[in-house]
Amino acid sequence: MMNSLQDWPEPIVRVQSLSESGLSMIPDRYVKPLSDRPSSNRPENGDANIPIIDLTGLTDDETELSRSTMDRISSACRDWGFFQVVNHGVSPGLMDQARETWRSFFHLPMEIKQAYANSPKTYEGYGSRLGIEKGAILDWSDYYYLHYLPLTLKDYNKWPGSPDYCREVIDEYGKELVKLGGRIMKFLSINLGLDESHLQNAFGGENIGACVRVNFYPKCPQPDLTLGLSSHSDPGGLTILLPDPEVPGLQVRKDDRWITVKPARHAFIVNIGDQIQVLSNANYKSVEHRVIVNSGVERLSLAFFYNPKSDIPIKPIRELVSADKPALYPPMTFDEYRLFIRLNGPKGKSQVESLKSPRCH
Ligand code: OGA
Ligand code: NI
Repeated sequence: MMNSLQDWPEPIVRVQSLSESGLSMIPDRYVKPLSDRPSSNRPENGDANIPIIDLTGLTDDETELSRSTMDRISSACRDWGFFQVVNHGVSPGLMDQARETWRSFFHLPMEIKQAYANSPKTYEGYGSRLGIEKGAILDWSDYYYLHYLPLTLKDYNKWPGSPDYCREVIDEYGKELVKLGGRIMKFLSINLGLDESHLQNAFGGENIGACVRVNFYPKCPQPDLTLGLSSHSDPGGLTILLPDPEVPGLQVRKDDRWITVKPARHAFIVNIGDQIQVLSNANYKSVEHRVIVNSGVERLSLAFFYNPKSDIPIKPIRELVSADKPALYPPMTFDEYRLFIRLNGPKGKSQVESLKSPRCH
């Protein structure tokens, strides 16, 4: 198994280079089957959006505002698996700086970026595909992936060395996002009827994992034929996404439709990952999402993954299991779980669904 993760099955092509070459038709490798293309969407209600939740006041306990805010978070987790947060405590200046620092990185000359080229073994570094299936249809994006926590995996040599302030900005941003992630974990715990630190403890307490994936979606001459990121649910715990404020692209599955997220100013987009689906015994579900691209302008997003410690068994929390609601999933560590994604790439919700087995009841 590990051997098969040593290398990519074919030479890597940077989507940014393809885009900048000025071609008018995209290579066949990026052309999705008809049913996966953006236009297969049923006409969208243009006003629909994921819930926007203002976190102001949530720290004063038991005020009217915090009760109604907690209820809105609860509904968002159940109905959407996605919400935006505003007044979340992370400084808007830091958000803009983090995004623009990464934009500068992607605009560096290709030979500088190539020094960070990644492999499927850990995915750390500069990449252009997920999964190692030979001949797979690829997504129209490049990315940069790095570990922020645990400290044993944090390796500055695998972080960009330029722009020269890049590492400092990532460190500062990571610190703030770990804080925000910890707060959101408390809200979810309380809303699930648990004590506030229950989910955090199930994640391994202080020993959580945290990674960043910066997604870069270059302009695409035929955006109707492809996707920037194929439909998937996030394998980890919680995702806190900093979207491109100017360029929509993220779509969330709601019933049988894809809803395009309209980012609020200086908001983060929060979504439930597969590990919280498992821990909550499917009270909360990780929801499928994908990214569409466009011909006019590039798009950049920063996904911060707040994950359980990778070697502890993750299974439904005892308080959420009963005779009526038996445990839906057998225990599995996050290390075991994410191997699937590393081999197969984004595949809708097939992984978490495949865990369900009558034998584990
Ligand atoms: C992801 C993701 C969405 C986006 O990185 O897992 O879903 O808008 N990104 O880039
Ligand atoms: Ni995602």
